[in-house]
Amino acid sequence: MGLSPSRRARWQREACVTVRPTMGLFSRKPLATLMEEAGEEGQHTLRRSLTASNLVLLGIGAIIGAGIFVLTGTAAAQHAGPAIVLSFVLAGLGCLFAGLCYAEFASMIPIAGSAYTYGYATLGELLAWIIGWDLVLEYLFSASTVAVGWSGYVVAFLSRLGVHLPGSLTNAPLTLSDSHDLVATGAVLNVPAVGLVLLLTGLLVIGIRESAAVNNFIVYLKLLVVVLVIVFGASYVDPANWTPFIPEATGKPGEFGWGGITAGAGVIFFAYIGFDAVSTAAQEARNPQRDLPIGILGSLAVCTVLYILMALVMTGIAPYAELDVPHPVDVAVSKAGPALSWLAMIVDIGAIAGLGSVVLVMIMAQPRIFYAMARDGLLPQALGKIHPRYQTPYVATILTGVVAAVFAGLFPIGLLGELVSIGTLFAFVIVCAGVLLLRRQDPTMLRGFKTPLVPWVPSLGILTCGYLMYGLGTETWLRLMVWMAIGLAIYFLYGRKHSRLAAEP
Ligand code: ALA
Repeated sequence: MGLSPSRRARWQREACVTVRPTMGLFSRKPLATLMEEAGEEGQHTLRRSLTASNLVLLGIGAIIGAGIFVLTGTAAAQHAGPAIVLSFVLAGLGCLFAGLCYAEFASMIPIAGSAYTYGYATLGELLAWIIGWDLVLEYLFSASTVAVGWSGYVVAFLSRLGVHLPGSLTNAPLTLSDSHDLVATGAVLNVPAVGLVLLLTGLLVIGIRESAAVNNFIVYLKLLVVVLVIVFGASYVDPANWTPFIPEATGKPGEFGWGGITAGAGVIFFAYIGFDAVSTAAQEARNPQRDLPIGILGSLAVCTVLYILMALVMTGIAPYAELDVPHPVDVAVSKAGPALSWLAMIVDIGAIAGLGSVVLVMIMAQPRIFYAMARDGLLPQALGKIHPRYQTPYVATILTGVVAAVFAGLFPIGLLGELVSIGTLFAFVIVCAGVLLLRRQDPTMLRGFKTPLVPWVPSLGILTCGYLMYGLGTETWLRLMVWMAIGLAIYFLYGRKHSRLAAEP
């Protein structure tokens, strides 16, 4: 792996000396053990093949998707108006603080489990389990959510070409009624969404290098589309559409004014989710200490700049009220007139490819969390199995794919979106808290990357992400609690009894 023998030795020496795990629910996994695991090589471990640029592209692959292509319009029309640009800045700041904390951990503990593993090293087994279980909300459910968005774009694109797929095979059979009950829609299954998830699952079983190659191509394509919209759209901007930049508050909470900017930030936070997925590929990175921070922060920086420019162009071409549609980028481009009609088709292709790559990275990230949890004994050993030929966690990948396909096939996009956001924000809060804690527990430990301005950056990360969580509404909080209750039941019935750490003398 990318860690030199002398550096590894220093890491292990320090980890042995400084870590004093406590036993029981709050047992911490010794850093020395983690470093040993990070250093393992061979047929039963993951294959180290990803470079720094692969990791940046992996991050962008996970980030640019339904958030910018679908949610920006609704957020501008219903919450912030042209000031959706400021919502992007606000949510981007929260992600930057969290990203800087992720980068420190990822450079210090380059293990596949991401925030779950960081939690195990700092906060103890129970909280680690809670984070691991919470990350399922982020990765597995966002794969399903974005696959449903992808299906919507494909259906619209094909019907533009004159191919009309039957609604009963392209929609969810279940939806939420106004009173929040699950009701039947009359449809049978969202076949395109299921097909996409299963296809990408197969690709991920075959190998991460092959998946990275596909991902790189798609990411270049969607980057090109975003840049084309910004560059060509800029000359059609009518500054009158930006006035007033912050529409006056209507008096209803979250509708325009400053309240609208923060509500908009809560919605478009979804657009940033994914940069942290880079950290789940830690054991497949050639030089994780150096390249993971580059992957996390690089992908976040590129996307933040593009999002802000894209939001400026979209609200500049079309009056924000007209963007309240599932395909706002299309609407904005069409508004520019026939001169940009060639771009509308390309936008659809970019969105289809873009959303597909988000699903790919999310289905890649989830099994790596399961893999780490299974290795620790908190989940059944089978989930930690590595394919002897492809060197991928194939059992965990297949399980992820099948469950994600079931959700994508049966449920509508709105049901899981906010759960994904709250789950992700919760993980961000814990990672920021973990940096603060580990700086106190192990101040001298070698860190490949150090979060700047500690304690300010992690504290601001906790505050910003906590504030965005607070804005997500009672229903979402209740669902989070139900999800956590199920997770705790599994931990106490299975994980605690099989924990490898608890079994150690
Ligand atoms: N950030 C990803 C998206 O917007 C999850 O689709």
